[in-house]
Amino acid sequence: MVNLDKYSSIFIANWKLNGNSSFLKDYYEKLKVNSNNCTIICSSSIYLKSLKGNNENLFCGAQDVSFYKKGAYTGELSASMLKDNNIDFCLVGHSERRQYFAETNNIVNIKTTNLIEENIIPVICIGETLEQKENKLTEEVLSTQIKDSIPNTANHQNVLIAYEPVWAIGTGLTPTLSEINQVHELIKNFDQKYINFKVLYGGSVKSSNSKEINELRYVDGCLIGGASLKVDEFNTIIS
Ligand code: 13P
Repeated sequence: MVNLDKYSSIFIANWKLNGNSSFLKDYYEKLKVNSNNCTIICSSSIYLKSLKGNNENLFCGAQDVSFYKKGAYTGELSASMLKDNNIDFCLVGHSERRQYFAETNNIVNIKTTNLIEENIIPVICIGETLEQKENKLTEEVLSTQIKDSIPNTANHQNVLIAYEPVWAIGTGLTPTLSEINQVHELIKNFDQKYINFKVLYGGSVKSSNSKEINELRYVDGCLIGGASLKVDEFNTIIS
Protein backbone atom coordinates (compact mmCIF):
# COMPACT_ATOMS: atom_id res chain seq x y z
CA MET A 1 0.00 0.00 0.00
CA VAL A 2 1.22 3.51 -0.76
CA ASN A 3 2.64 5.30 2.31
CA LEU A 4 0.47 8.42 2.48
CA ASP A 5 2.43 9.87 5.41
CA LYS A 6 5.34 10.51 3.05
CA TYR A 7 3.53 13.29 1.23
CA SER A 8 2.71 16.83 2.20
CA SER A 9 -0.10 17.03 -0.37
CA ILE A 10 -2.08 14.69 -2.57
CA PHE A 11 -3.40 15.70 -5.99
CA ILE A 12 -5.80 13.52 -7.93
CA ALA A 13 -6.75 14.05 -11.57
CA ASN A 14 -10.18 12.63 -12.30
CA TRP A 15 -10.45 12.47 -16.08
CA LYS A 16 -13.99 11.06 -15.92
CA LEU A 17 -15.17 9.85 -19.35
CA ASN A 18 -12.46 11.67 -21.31
CA GLY A 19 -9.15 10.88 -23.00
CA ASN A 20 -7.82 8.49 -25.61
CA SER A 21 -4.42 6.98 -26.49
CA SER A 22 -2.99 10.06 -28.16
CA PHE A 23 -4.25 12.32 -25.37
CA LEU A 24 -2.52 10.02 -22.88
CA LYS A 25 0.78 9.98 -24.74
CA ASP A 26 0.92 13.75 -25.04
CA TYR A 27 -0.15 14.21 -21.39
CA TYR A 28 2.56 11.92 -20.06
CA GLU A 29 5.25 13.56 -22.14
CA LYS A 30 4.37 16.92 -20.62
CA LEU A 31 3.42 15.94 -17.05
CA LYS A 32 5.86 17.27 -14.41
CA VAL A 33 5.44 15.43 -11.12
CA ASN A 34 6.60 17.20 -7.95
CA SER A 35 8.37 14.76 -5.63
CA ASN A 36 6.96 16.30 -2.40
CA ASN A 37 3.48 15.45 -3.55
CA CYS A 38 1.56 12.32 -4.36
CA THR A 39 0.06 12.62 -7.84
CA ILE A 40 -2.65 10.22 -8.92
CA ILE A 41 -4.21 9.99 -12.36
CA CYS A 42 -7.66 8.42 -12.53
CA SER A 43 -8.19 7.61 -16.17
CA SER A 44 -10.86 5.44 -17.66
CA SER A 45 -10.13 1.80 -16.68
CA ILE A 46 -9.10 0.67 -20.13
CA TYR A 47 -6.12 3.06 -20.08
CA LEU A 48 -4.97 2.36 -16.53
CA LYS A 49 -2.17 -0.01 -17.50
CA SER A 50 -0.66 2.31 -20.06
CA LEU A 51 -0.28 5.03 -17.45
CA LYS A 52 2.21 3.40 -15.15
CA GLY A 53 5.43 5.31 -15.65
CA ASN A 54 8.61 5.02 -13.64
CA ASN A 55 8.08 8.02 -11.39
CA GLU A 56 7.79 6.79 -7.80
CA ASN A 57 5.45 9.63 -6.82
CA LEU A 58 3.01 9.11 -9.67
CA PHE A 59 0.19 6.59 -9.27
CA CYS A 60 -2.79 5.23 -11.13
CA GLY A 61 -6.27 5.32 -9.73
CA ALA A 62 -9.45 3.73 -10.97
CA GLN A 63 -12.67 5.75 -11.07
CA ASP A 64 -14.82 2.91 -9.78
CA VAL A 65 -14.77 -0.74 -8.77
CA SER A 66 -17.35 -3.47 -8.68
CA PHE A 67 -19.41 -4.09 -5.57
CA TYR A 68 -18.86 -7.81 -6.25
CA LYS A 69 -15.66 -9.76 -5.76
CA LYS A 70 -16.17 -12.25 -8.60
CA GLY A 71 -18.77 -14.19 -10.50
CA ALA A 72 -21.41 -13.73 -13.16
CA TYR A 73 -21.52 -9.93 -13.26
CA THR A 74 -20.96 -8.98 -16.88
CA GLY A 75 -19.02 -5.77 -17.45
CA GLU A 76 -17.69 -5.46 -13.91
CA LEU A 77 -14.09 -4.96 -12.72
CA SER A 78 -13.17 -6.27 -9.26
CA ALA A 79 -10.83 -4.90 -6.62
CA SER A 80 -8.55 -7.92 -7.04
CA MET A 81 -8.36 -7.28 -10.81
CA LEU A 82 -7.31 -3.69 -10.09
CA LYS A 83 -4.65 -4.95 -7.70
CA ASP A 84 -3.47 -7.48 -10.24
CA ASN A 85 -2.86 -4.52 -12.57
CA ASN A 86 -0.90 -2.53 -9.96
CA ILE A 87 -3.59 0.04 -9.32
CA ASP A 88 -3.00 1.77 -5.98
CA PHE A 89 -6.04 4.03 -5.60
CA CYS A 90 -9.73 3.99 -6.50
CA LEU A 91 -12.44 6.66 -6.28
CA VAL A 92 -15.63 5.50 -4.60
CA GLY A 93 -18.95 7.25 -4.11
CA HIS A 94 -18.25 10.08 -6.53
CA SER A 95 -21.36 12.26 -6.72
CA GLU A 96 -21.76 11.38 -10.42
CA ARG A 97 -21.92 7.71 -9.47
CA ARG A 98 -24.31 8.46 -6.63
CA GLN A 99 -26.49 10.53 -8.98
CA TYR A 100 -26.42 8.55 -12.25
CA PHE A 101 -25.67 5.02 -11.06
CA ALA A 102 -27.62 4.90 -7.79
CA GLU A 103 -24.53 4.35 -5.66
CA THR A 104 -25.60 4.39 -2.01
CA ASN A 105 -23.54 4.75 1.16
CA ASN A 106 -23.97 1.02 1.71
CA ILE A 107 -22.54 0.23 -1.72
CA VAL A 108 -19.66 2.65 -1.07
CA ASN A 109 -19.00 0.89 2.24
CA ILE A 110 -18.76 -2.53 0.60
CA LYS A 111 -16.60 -1.30 -2.29
CA THR A 112 -14.31 0.39 0.26
CA THR A 113 -14.04 -2.82 2.29
CA ASN A 114 -13.14 -4.82 -0.83
CA LEU A 115 -10.49 -2.28 -1.85
CA ILE A 116 -8.89 -2.19 1.61
CA GLU A 117 -8.67 -5.99 1.54
CA GLU A 118 -6.67 -5.68 -1.69
CA ASN A 119 -4.40 -2.94 -0.29
CA ILE A 120 -5.83 -0.37 -2.69
CA ILE A 121 -6.52 3.03 -1.13
CA PRO A 122 -10.16 4.08 -1.63
CA VAL A 123 -10.84 7.78 -2.08
CA ILE A 124 -14.29 8.14 -0.54
CA CYS A 125 -16.15 11.10 -2.01
CA ILE A 126 -18.76 12.94 0.03
CA GLY A 127 -20.57 16.22 -0.46
CA GLU A 128 -23.87 18.05 -0.17
CA THR A 129 -26.15 19.37 -2.91
CA LEU A 130 -26.99 23.07 -3.22
CA GLU A 131 -30.45 22.45 -1.83
CA GLN A 132 -29.00 20.68 1.20
CA LYS A 133 -26.52 23.51 1.72
CA GLU A 134 -29.26 26.13 1.48
CA ASN A 135 -31.33 24.18 3.99
CA LYS A 136 -28.31 24.12 6.34
CA LEU A 137 -28.07 20.33 6.10
CA THR A 138 -24.39 20.11 5.16
CA GLU A 139 -23.24 18.79 8.53
CA GLU A 140 -26.02 16.22 8.75
CA VAL A 141 -25.53 14.98 5.17
CA LEU A 142 -21.76 14.66 5.54
CA SER A 143 -21.94 12.93 8.90
CA THR A 144 -24.39 10.34 7.52
CA GLN A 145 -22.23 9.79 4.43
CA ILE A 146 -19.17 9.32 6.60
CA LYS A 147 -20.82 7.07 9.17
CA ASP A 148 -22.45 4.85 6.56
CA SER A 149 -19.75 4.81 3.85
CA ILE A 150 -16.62 4.28 5.91
CA PRO A 151 -16.13 0.74 7.24
CA ASN A 152 -14.53 -0.09 10.58
CA THR A 153 -11.42 -1.38 8.84
CA ALA A 154 -10.64 2.13 7.56
CA ASN A 155 -7.88 4.25 9.06
CA HIS A 156 -5.87 7.32 8.08
CA GLN A 157 -3.30 5.18 6.27
CA ASN A 158 -5.61 3.07 4.12
CA VAL A 159 -8.39 5.52 3.19
CA LEU A 160 -8.62 9.07 1.82
CA ILE A 161 -11.71 11.26 2.06
CA ALA A 162 -12.58 13.78 -0.64
CA TYR A 163 -15.03 16.57 0.13
CA GLU A 164 -16.72 17.56 -3.12
CA PRO A 165 -19.75 19.83 -2.72
CA VAL A 166 -22.00 18.63 -5.55
CA TRP A 167 -22.91 22.22 -6.51
CA ALA A 168 -19.22 23.09 -7.01
CA ILE A 169 -18.47 20.26 -9.44
CA GLY A 170 -17.95 21.53 -12.98
CA THR A 171 -19.74 24.81 -12.24
CA GLY A 172 -16.86 27.22 -11.62
CA LEU A 173 -18.37 27.88 -8.17
CA THR A 174 -16.51 27.08 -4.96
CA PRO A 175 -17.24 27.57 -1.29
CA THR A 176 -15.24 30.38 0.32
CA LEU A 177 -11.82 29.44 1.68
CA SER A 178 -13.08 29.65 5.22
CA GLU A 179 -16.08 27.44 4.40
CA ILE A 180 -13.77 24.81 2.90
CA ASN A 181 -11.51 24.90 5.93
CA GLN A 182 -14.44 24.70 8.35
CA VAL A 183 -16.04 21.75 6.58
CA HIS A 184 -12.74 19.87 6.48
CA GLU A 185 -12.23 20.53 10.17
CA LEU A 186 -15.75 19.28 10.81
CA ILE A 187 -15.13 16.08 8.83
CA LYS A 188 -11.99 15.30 10.82
CA ASN A 189 -13.85 15.95 14.07
CA PHE A 190 -17.05 13.98 13.49
CA ASP A 191 -15.36 11.25 15.47
CA GLN A 192 -11.96 11.03 17.08
CA LYS A 193 -11.11 8.15 14.73
CA TYR A 194 -11.14 10.49 11.70
CA ILE A 195 -8.86 13.11 13.20
CA ASN A 196 -5.78 12.04 11.21
CA PHE A 197 -7.56 11.16 7.97
CA LYS A 198 -6.37 13.14 4.99
CA VAL A 199 -9.22 15.12 3.46
CA LEU A 200 -8.94 16.44 -0.10
CA TYR A 201 -11.08 19.20 -1.58
CA GLY A 202 -12.72 18.86 -5.02
CA GLY A 203 -15.05 21.08 -7.04
CA SER A 204 -13.90 23.68 -9.59
CA VAL A 205 -10.25 23.55 -8.52
CA LYS A 206 -8.01 25.26 -11.07
CA SER A 207 -4.53 26.75 -11.19
CA SER A 208 -5.85 30.14 -10.06
CA ASN A 209 -7.34 28.85 -6.78
CA SER A 210 -5.51 25.59 -6.02
CA LYS A 211 -2.64 27.14 -4.06
CA GLU A 212 -4.83 28.99 -1.59
CA ILE A 213 -7.15 26.01 -1.16
CA ASN A 214 -4.28 23.60 -0.63
CA GLU A 215 -2.64 25.90 1.91
CA LEU A 216 -5.68 25.76 4.21
CA ARG A 217 -4.88 24.12 7.52
CA TYR A 218 -7.37 21.23 7.22
CA VAL A 219 -6.91 20.58 3.48
CA ASP A 220 -4.52 17.80 2.50
CA GLY A 221 -4.77 18.04 -1.27
CA CYS A 222 -7.20 18.39 -4.16
CA LEU A 223 -9.33 16.23 -6.44
CA ILE A 224 -9.50 17.88 -9.83
CA GLY A 225 -11.86 17.22 -12.73
CA GLY A 226 -12.00 19.58 -15.71
CA ALA A 227 -8.73 21.40 -15.00
CA SER A 228 -6.83 18.11 -14.85
CA LEU A 229 -7.54 17.52 -18.54
CA LYS A 230 -5.21 20.36 -19.49
CA VAL A 231 -1.72 19.16 -18.66
CA ASP A 232 -0.19 22.65 -18.36
CA GLU A 233 -2.93 23.66 -15.97
CA PHE A 234 -2.50 20.44 -13.97
CA ASN A 235 1.30 20.95 -13.87
CA THR A 236 0.74 24.37 -12.31
CA ILE A 237 -1.65 22.90 -9.75
CA ILE A 238 0.76 20.16 -8.63
CA SER A 239 3.92 22.29 -8.81
P1 13P B 1 -14.34 19.76 -11.52
O1 13P B 1 -12.93 20.00 -11.08
O2 13P B 1 -14.49 19.71 -13.01
O3 13P B 1 -15.29 20.69 -10.85
O4 13P B 1 -14.73 18.28 -11.03
C1 13P B 1 -14.49 17.91 -9.75
C2 13P B 1 -14.64 16.46 -9.63
O5 13P B 1 -15.73 15.93 -9.80
C3 13P B 1 -13.45 15.66 -9.36
O6 13P B 1 -13.78 14.37 -8.98
